[in-house]
Amino acid sequence: MTFTYPAVFTPHEDGKGYHAVFPDLECCEADGPDLEDTIENARDAACNWITVEMDEFDSDLPFSTHVEDMDQYDTILLGYPNWWASIPMPVASFLEEYDFSGKTIIPFCSHGGGRFGQSLTAITKLVPDALLGEGLAVSYSGGSSLSNDVTAWLDENNLPLN
Ligand SMILES: Cc1cc2nc3c(=O)[nH]c(=O)nc-3n(C[C@H](O)[C@H](O)[C@H](O)COP(=O)(O)O)c2cc1C
Repeated sequence: MTFTYPAVFTPHEDGKGYHAVFPDLECCEADGPDLEDTIENARDAACNWITVEMDEFDSDLPFSTHVEDMDQYDTILLGYPNWWASIPMPVASFLEEYDFSGKTIIPFCSHGGGRFGQSLTAITKLVPDALLGEGLAVSYSGGSSLSNDVTAWLDENNLPLN
């Protein structure tokens, strides 16, 4: 049996390791010294959480986070990290889940030097009937021009800040 729940990973404040939470699974959390171990620990924590819940007499597994009414959105700002020169699998699943025909998708991507990689092609293949806005690729380290770059990018997409 396969269960899919989104996990959120944040770096520890002291810069050593990561913390993971599953927004849909109450109090299901994990930590680790690096991303790889944290992912492993988070997977174990989620497996335990689900096993305990399923052992309950009246077990009630929560639904995975889902956009209730995608029809109300015309423009989607799609943020993701460049992974292996493309979009991460959960982002691909998100694009496959809804009908984006006629909507505008504006991608922004953090990267370690590879900018968008092949991610724009991957997005276009998954949602051929959506329009792709002017994207923004940001090096992970940010940089002093970041806020100007973001403002210019929002302007280019007619999404001024205010
Ligand atoms: C599994 C994995 C694959 C990655 N592949 C690439 C890559 O192909 N090109 C690139 O420029 N950066 C790559 N990176 C670096 C990430 O893009 C970078 O760490 C990320 O944008 C930073 O955001 P984050 O702290 O939210 O992960 C990769 C990172 C990970 C974890």
